[in-house]
Amino acid sequence: MRLTLIAAQSVDGFITRHDEPGTAFASPADQAHFRRALTHFDCSVFGATTYRVARDQIRAGLSHGRRRVVLTRQPAAYASDAVPGALEFTDDAPEAIIDRLRQLGHREGALLGGAEIHDLFLHARLVDELWLTIEPRIFGAGTPLVRKRVDLSLELLEADRLDDSDSLLVKYRVRRPAG
Ligand SMILES: NC(=O)c1ccc[n+]([C@@H]2O[C@H](COP(=O)([O-])OP(=O)(O)OC[C@H]3O[C@@H](n4cnc5c(N)ncnc54)[C@H](OP(=O)(O)O)[C@@H]3O)[C@@H](O)[C@H]2O)c1
Repeated sequence: MRLTLIAAQSVDGFITRHDEPGTAFASPADQAHFRRALTHFDCSVFGATTYRVARDQIRAGLSHGRRRVVLTRQPAAYASDAVPGALEFTDDAPEAIIDRLRQLGHREGALLGGAEIHDLFLHARLVDELWLTIEPRIFGAGTPLVRKRVDLSLELLEADRLDDSDSLLVKYRVRRPAG
């Protein structure tokens, strides 16, 4: 299964504006891109903080064709939110999550943040592509795209203006180390 990290960030690399949770800073062009992009994926993975911030919106958009997997160290605490096949909560390791999704027949997965979950999957070398919206904003503080030390080389696949906006969509493939 191919895993694509999708995020909107400021020019200086923040996925939230200061301490404000959520992605209200994202432009209408990015929001439209995000909705379009999600139709390409048959499953998604994200962290419990991201889930809590967008819980109502996520629950309103659930569908059985698109499994959503939420990482939490306390899956039992979310048992009443779980919808088998559509919304699952797990404390499995990233490798086990991807193996299971593959075994269930999923082919295209979206990794939807936040920073802790980016760290986990990038560190485990499980991310194949990154689709980043670079918003024309500078925040100086906030939740960074990645918090922990990692060193990955990327191949540029695409760089385009989003619609007629000042936002840029850049797509990268993660280069695999030789050997
Ligand atoms: N701009 C964007 O594109 C974008 C995208 C996504 C999110 N965001 C924003 O980013 C912020 C959230 O980012 P974040 O880094 O604070 O949080 P996060 O990555 O969304 O979630 C962190 C949570 O994931 C769970 N977790 C972490 N490591 C785990 C592990 N090894 N095993 C099991 N569960 C684990 C824990 O949940 P428990 O506490 O339940 O154990 C932890 O509190 C939000 O404000 C969100 O709106 C922005």
